[in-house]
Amino acid sequence: MTTVLGLIGVGRIGVMHARTIQALADDGVELILADVDVARARQVSAELGCRVAEDVDALFAAAPDGVVIAVGTPQHAPLILRAAQAGIPAFCEKPVAESTEASVAVLEAIARHGATVQIGHQRRLDPGHLAARQALQRGELGWLHTIRAITADMAPPSVEFLATSGGLFRDCSVHDFDSIQWLTGQRIVEVYARGSNNGDPAIGGVGDVDTAVALATLEDGTVATVSATRYNGGGHDVRLELQGSAGTVQVGLDDSYAGRSAELGVDFPAGPAHQTFHERFAEAYHHEMRAFLELVRGQRENPCPPGEAVDASRVADAAQESLETGRPVRVRR
Ligand SMILES: NC(=O)c1ccc[n+]([C@@H]2O[C@H](COP(=O)([O-])OP(=O)(O)OC[C@H]3O[C@@H](n4cnc5c(N)ncnc54)[C@H](O)[C@@H]3O)[C@@H](O)[C@H]2O)c1
Repeated sequence: MTTVLGLIGVGRIGVMHARTIQALADDGVELILADVDVARARQVSAELGCRVAEDVDALFAAAPDGVVIAVGTPQHAPLILRAAQAGIPAFCEKPVAESTEASVAVLEAIARHGATVQIGHQRRLDPGHLAARQALQRGELGWLHTIRAITADMAPPSVEFLATSGGLFRDCSVHDFDSIQWLTGQRIVEVYARGSNNGDPAIGGVGDVDTAVALATLEDGTVATVSATRYNGGGHDVRLELQGSAGTVQVGLDDSYAGRSAELGVDFPAGPAHQTFHERFAEAYHHEMRAFLELVRGQRENPCPPGEAVDASRVADAAQESLETGRPVRVRR
């Protein structure tokens, strides 16, 4: 039986999800897409050879089995609610809503409707992150004492985007906060953050920083550093190191690592380095859309429930507050 997936928003990430879904055609998946920019929607549908809806109303009228919401953040909440009211399972890019308060209202509505919503923290479907989690759960690392997470973009996005992104912690590090909580099964309880702004002054002009580090403390006292920058000219770098009493694993340490060894005679990594998040997480994004398909078909558990995604946003809020106040901040729950 064919599963029809509707996709709303074919921008930077939406077009990638559209391609991934279209690649599932042999698995009985049919894609229909919509965008407020109708010309763009038509262009992408022509490229991919899929159906296009005139607008979002028409897309919902087609009664898809699931919807993928890949529009900008302000439209997440209304579209999640619309899918919930229609009884259609939804996948939505992070974050759930523009603010944590608004996200909590969305969570309540999701619960009221008994709706199925998967949030786009793709690292939960990334083979490296999954292997690290398994190593930790099997006790192969002994007891965990230190976590080091890095998310480094090659170059900043537009200042217009940064002005509405909520800041580096909410835009980038939220993925690390989610990974850490998901990997360890523990909550981050306190964050102390510092940031700097030595790149484009326009970034400071919109109240953001281009580089930041958060020291996060987990429930059992384990410490984690979460580091992010918009300026890693060597490539897109996402790594996460779990260091335990019996061993250490590092996610993202392969030949695409966006750095080089300073040791003489060491030619690791062989390269080329990843340039974008699309490349770095190509496999994860594929698994993420397949997971949503299986969720829609009732074949698997939800890999990223909205409540857990909102909890990571609460940590990002605390990090932002710490950055602004210069003091450690307890995560409010
Ligand atoms: N998980 C990740 O790694 C990751 C990476 C990048 C972006 N994101 C998230 O994805 C979301 C989209 O980001 P982007 O960079 O692709 O944005 P974008 O601006 O490139 O694309 C958004 C698209 O949605 C369309 N759109 C806006 N409002 C709409 C509406 N009401 N109905 C239909 N279409 C509408 C726009 O015309 C545009 O084509 C953001 O919330 C962002 O946080 C997640």
